[in-house]
Amino acid sequence: MPQATPEFPGDDSPTVPIPRAEIDRIDRRARSRAAGSVHEISPPGSVSGSVWMTAQQSPGAQRKGRYIAESTAHPAKMLPAVAAHAIAHYTTPGELVLDPMCGIGTTLVEAAHLGRRAIGLEYEPHWAQVAAANLDLARRARPEVDAAVFQGDARQLLHVLPEVRGQVALVVTSPPYGPSTHGQVSVVPGGGVHKYHHLYGNTLDRGNLANIGHHRLLSGFTRILTGCAALLRPGGHIAVTLRPWREHAELIDLPAQIQACGTHAGLIPVERCVALLARHDDNGQIIPRGSFFQRDFLRKQRERGLPLHLIAHEDVLIFRTPLTEEDAEQPTGPASTNHTRTSRPLAELATEQVA
Ligand SMILES: C[S@@+](CC[C@H](N)C(=O)[O-])C[C@H]1O[C@@H](n2cnc3c(N)ncnc32)[C@H](O)[C@@H]1O
Repeated sequence: MPQATPEFPGDDSPTVPIPRAEIDRIDRRARSRAAGSVHEISPPGSVSGSVWMTAQQSPGAQRKGRYIAESTAHPAKMLPAVAAHAIAHYTTPGELVLDPMCGIGTTLVEAAHLGRRAIGLEYEPHWAQVAAANLDLARRARPEVDAAVFQGDARQLLHVLPEVRGQVALVVTSPPYGPSTHGQVSVVPGGGVHKYHHLYGNTLDRGNLANIGHHRLLSGFTRILTGCAALLRPGGHIAVTLRPWREHAELIDLPAQIQACGTHAGLIPVERCVALLARHDDNGQIIPRGSFFQRDFLRKQRERGLPLHLIAHEDVLIFRTPLTEEDAEQPTGPASTNHTRTSRPLAELATEQVA
């Protein structure tokens, strides 16, 4: 299990590492129970967790100088510190990080700044272009950055990125889940609240998982996780960030549903973490950074008698691919992996990438 690396600029407490002996124990038990299959979930209660201090700086301060202005319009960007925390804790420099639904490329940009190689796929051509431009910006600071963005459907991951099969150390990604939690707002005096930048591309386009029903989102995301599992090296990790979501004020426990998708895709859930969207101050207080829209929604619900609270965190689900017998014999840590990796720069992959 990778340890916290000193180059990460935040001062988060390290994620609690899972002892290697425990990993081996779980894998061996899975093998013997499933008679040859290593695809089995951890026993109940063995999933650990930790709290990530990922909003000590505001989202704007985290993105300043690292993302082009057009990035702002994306309806559901990941907080850069969430991606950076996962990358710093589950990979070592030089390893390959993937985001199959990369949006403006937050995972890729943060990976690049941490000295990792990065590859991303995005369905919407516009956001793929923005991600490519953000990587160009990262290259100005670090010319050696090895990263690439592709436009396509993540449900076809193995067709789009066959060349990195078995080589990815970490996937950091976030599914789209409807417009209710997304976007920005402006207040027009006397004209009420106007929402904008809350939709993805053409809402009739069923290729974008944001535009299909909840059950199809879950089945589509299961396919994406299955593809990710094939691209990961044995023992590689997937970090999925997401929030519970409300539909007509009813709580939809999306994290629990996505956890089920992961196990269905043959992955082992190893941690369920909390990435704070709130600042922890010197007096031990948690100061939420909820958007205007979220506060406005809460105020209206409370006026109707529903005592909702502001959600001040994202859930981060961590999955791991099973280890093979051969890997279980290897020394600990991602740097010790004996899997071949492509020595060609990612920019030279045969698939057509976004310039
Ligand atoms: C929650 S956003 C991810 C944002 C990203 N983490 C960032 O920081 O910019 C989900 C992204 O998935 C993309 N997407 C939706 N369906 C997709 C598909 N079938 N294949 C690839 N990307 C898809 C959306 O266009 C959107 O940009």
